Amino acid sequence: MNDNASADGRVWRLPTRSGEYAVSAAPDGSGLIMVGWGPPEDQQPWKEPVAVYELDPDTVPTEYSAAGTRHGRGAELIVDHGEGLIGARLRLDPAQVTVDTEGPRSILRAVHTDTTGHLRLTCEIETSRDHEVVAKRVIAKNTGGRPLTFPRLFSAGWQLPIGPGARIDYLAGGWAHEFFEHRAVLPAGEFSIGSRQGITSHRYSPVVTVSALDDAEADDDGPCYSIALAWSGSWRMLVDAVPDADRVRVAGGIDDETCMITLEPGESFETPASLGICSTDGPDELAREWHDYQRGRLARSRGVDHRPIVYNSWYATGFDVEVDHQRRLAGIAAELGAEVFVVDDGWFAGRTNDRAGLGDWVPDKIKFPDGLGPLIDSVSEAGMRFGLWVEPEAVNPDSDLFRAHPDWVYRAGDRPLVTSRNQYVLDLGRPEVLAWVGQTLRDLLADGRISYLKWDMNRPVSDGGRPGDDHGRQWSVQHARGYYALLHLLRSEFPHVTVEACAGGGGRIDNAVLALTDVVWTSDETGPRDRLAIQHGFLSRYPASVMSSWVTDEPDKLDHDPASLGFRFAVAMTGVLGIGSDLLGWDAETRSRAAELIMTYKQIRDTVHNGIVRRHGHPRDPLYASEFSDEGRSCLLVFGRPGVAAQPRIRPLGLDPDARYRPNGGEPITGASAMTEGLPVRWSLASDADLIILERLR
Ligand code: GLA
Repeated sequence: MNDNASADGRVWRLPTRSGEYAVSAAPDGSGLIMVGWGPPEDQQPWKEPVAVYELDPDTVPTEYSAAGTRHGRGAELIVDHGEGLIGARLRLDPAQVTVDTEGPRSILRAVHTDTTGHLRLTCEIETSRDHEVVAKRVIAKNTGGRPLTFPRLFSAGWQLPIGPGARIDYLAGGWAHEFFEHRAVLPAGEFSIGSRQGITSHRYSPVVTVSALDDAEADDDGPCYSIALAWSGSWRMLVDAVPDADRVRVAGGIDDETCMITLEPGESFETPASLGICSTDGPDELAREWHDYQRGRLARSRGVDHRPIVYNSWYATGFDVEVDHQRRLAGIAAELGAEVFVVDDGWFAGRTNDRAGLGDWVPDKIKFPDGLGPLIDSVSEAGMRFGLWVEPEAVNPDSDLFRAHPDWVYRAGDRPLVTSRNQYVLDLGRPEVLAWVGQTLRDLLADGRISYLKWDMNRPVSDGGRPGDDHGRQWSVQHARGYYALLHLLRSEFPHVTVEACAGGGGRIDNAVLALTDVVWTSDETGPRDRLAIQHGFLSRYPASVMSSWVTDEPDKLDHDPASLGFRFAVAMTGVLGIGSDLLGWDAETRSRAAELIMTYKQIRDTVHNGIVRRHGHPRDPLYASEFSDEGRSCLLVFGRPGVAAQPRIRPLGLDPDARYRPNGGEPITGASAMTEGLPVRWSLASDADLIILERLR
């Protein structure tokens, strides 16, 4: 413990990689206020405003406030003491603020008390000199003698010096079109996104980026603040632009519409973390800061071990899984250069379609008369790892599991159960259910031959709750924590197992999932032009090193624009490449071209996964590129649409102007001239796709 180590006067300064997050005690004693964020020279001091027809606690931009302390403007916390007493009057004694420094990390803890004596609220702020992310969370403790309920217990508030008004950039969409970039201009009022579905959702990604309204017309190079939630249950984030106020509040946490947290006397609750980045250099820089954090802090490794080239059977075979057929697919996948063979849905007992079998996680006796062993033998002999699709949180009514335990699913009292994709969701808030799922995973992985799991979750939770149990009102918290506990179990007991997170495509991707899994299935849409648009948005907030992307066959169900094999490979090469095609339908020429392309990908994947990404324009433009750069080289994956110039040039964005590079093994060129004159696009992969590799000369 290093009391007030970083305090200078009453300002506590927490260093990040290139700046700091500085807070001081609010003048009215109600909490902390943010007094600076970013490089010291860019910080904007807080000026005490004049309160007219508002009470002081409203105009003070307190970091975290309660209804009852902040009266007119929204609060991060609402507490119900029972017997009609709502809210809290928070007090912060500056002597109760401490800073721990441990290596590059700093954690500030500020202990607030409520004047009732029923509640202690500790706000934590954590930074590191290794990255730019500021992590905030609160721990609420019931210090009274009767239960407290929390209609709202958000993770954090952020009071950002960009007002009045805000420009908001966020990612939104739906199934098969996740992660599209959207912008809202908010001169005054509240903007809110979230999920009520018990999972992160396809609709919105839990991250908002706000900047000054004045920049809305200008190019995106002003300072901006990107705030995320590391949470995979129901959630809400809001941006609150009070008219005329110079601070815009971003707040969020566990959803306050579907979740009510109860704390018995003596109990504590720690919220998920809210993460924030202050960036002064535009969208590419912001993406880079998120990626650095996700790759360096959240991911367990950087190498290829946990991001192998997958062959996945789903698009080739659907539920029609059959051992010899899978074996033949595996043989070709290995020849092409795949590193793991994954049997998707359809391998377990009774699973001939999506109406049966979920919950019965043993190989189907008809499809695999001798179990999975013979297929695993073939896959291993071909030099690949073996993996399986699972959906451990779900159960079909037509399954032995449901017949044995109909009470294990979420059930809102006597209301009729609602199926979606013919399935229910297991109540992971029940210890016996969680224990059963954990044991099922252990049994499946026990012999050590399965080293890859694609973990799916194919429906939202609609019947959350557990009548008779007050804690059932926090089902979505229990569900998310149950899911995390199971992922922890996999990490600790089966560290060799790579986990690909999936929820009907990209329905559960967030910074908490990235900390506990290895790659994520970004979307069920693999039509290459649609997919490129999805990946474009994804890469603005999440890294290529987790972005699972497969080459599949045409025609795509949704994306009817034709695209060459080279184009489809190039799309997958911008992430963690996989193959989902029906390889038995590929002729010898296609296979040999695919093998070459996979070889090329293996040469560039370290740069793609660990380099800095820069996006050129938008995939709807006639010419679009994703550029990845590390110290030794830059790789541009270039995509053409109808209407593209016959011999276009492309200007790399991330070269060192003074260094010399050899583009695709040709004549050396300086970074400066490549970036100003551009490089010719030669369509080396196909008539609509190119790969330009610029090796840096020493
Ligand atoms: C979800 C996944 C797909 C596939 C199917 C199998 O939709 O996103 O990739 O695994 O389930 O049922």
